[in-house]
Amino acid sequence: MPGRRYDIAVIAGDGVGREVTPAALAVLHEIAHQSGFVLDDVDFPWGSDHFVRTGHMMPSDALELLRAFDAVFLGAVGSPEVDDDIPVWGLILPIRKGFDQYVNLRPIRLLPGVDSPLAGRGPDDVNMICVRENCEGEYSGVGRRMLTGTSREVAEQTAVFTRAGIERIVRYAFELANARPRKQLASATKSNALQHSMVLWDEVVAEVAEDFPKVTVASYHVDALAARMVSHPQSLDVIVASNLFGDILTDLGAAISGSLGMGASGNLNPERKFPSMFEPIHGSAPDIAGRGIANPIGSIWAGAMMLEHLGEDEAASRVMAAIERVLQAGKFRTPDLGGDSSTDEVAMAVQNAL
Ligand code: NAI
Ligand code: MG
Repeated sequence: MPGRRYDIAVIAGDGVGREVTPAALAVLHEIAHQSGFVLDDVDFPWGSDHFVRTGHMMPSDALELLRAFDAVFLGAVGSPEVDDDIPVWGLILPIRKGFDQYVNLRPIRLLPGVDSPLAGRGPDDVNMICVRENCEGEYSGVGRRMLTGTSREVAEQTAVFTRAGIERIVRYAFELANARPRKQLASATKSNALQHSMVLWDEVVAEVAEDFPKVTVASYHVDALAARMVSHPQSLDVIVASNLFGDILTDLGAAISGSLGMGASGNLNPERKFPSMFEPIHGSAPDIAGRGIANPIGSIWAGAMMLEHLGEDEAASRVMAAIERVLQAGKFRTPDLGGDSSTDEVAMAVQNAL
């Protein structure tokens, strides 16, 4: 009988993406070996260097190439040499939108052994998950600049929300909340100031709520929700948010979990018509890139989410348990968590803990 094997497209990208991705892959290959499956990974050297050479972040047939894979494993993109909208609009968003990865799932957990900047808080207090809309909203790309360079210059950036787009993300979030013990959903809104888009958002949340009588749902204005994440993190379970709101709230979530380097995410196409993509939430971190000190945990955790998506649940839990053992032991941690270990030392410690 042929063994289980999964084709993984790897885009390490730029900066620390190129450091954390190979470190995480080493962990993933080790667990695959121990669990009796094969991760067949193919490297795609796309990103800012590719842009400087060719004028494109990735080739024009990139999505056709990626489509054949079971999943995409991404590091991060962005470089001081390239305007910041180019990596986002030339690589990340085309993949997320082109593969209809409309769910961006981002766990926010303070792992045992890690100090939160929130005084007195432990793992039981910070244990939530954000369901971020990933294909429309504020990142629709609609807008224009006029009278460029003049004193009368105008920039318009239009957020585009569709009923269908809101409904599918909200439904996903309710289903997730319904499957969790606490069954609580917090919706991030701003319907006081955004009287069109966020009012529609609130209406759809109220409609979908009727199908989930066991879920307790609360709407919070996003600014107050940000404050609540700091002052009452224990009151939050599942958060559903638009593209921009979720982006901001999850960097905050990673920070209260100890470091931006801890955040993991899955860009999911739940219908599995297209491959899903897994990545740490952080960027290319040019301020620390090249020194081998980036925290690889966000990337390893994203790898665990990928394994779960591929149906390798036990392998995924074993990777998470190994991460927790290493953090709890406290011997190996990168400088962002107050240690002095390198990226590779932490990844090796996780491998050894498997
Ligand atoms: P960033 O996430 O790269 O860095 C913010 C801060 O967190 C920096 O001080 C950095 O050193 C630290 N940090 C990030 N990852 C870390 C890790 N693994 N270990 C330890 N510390 C870590 O965000 P920033 O500075 O706003 O953006 C840098 C570049 O990355 C830009 O070009 C931006 O457009 C791009 N970016 C790309 C993303 C992606 O590829 N998905 C996401 C966010 C930003
Ligand atoms: Mg972000």
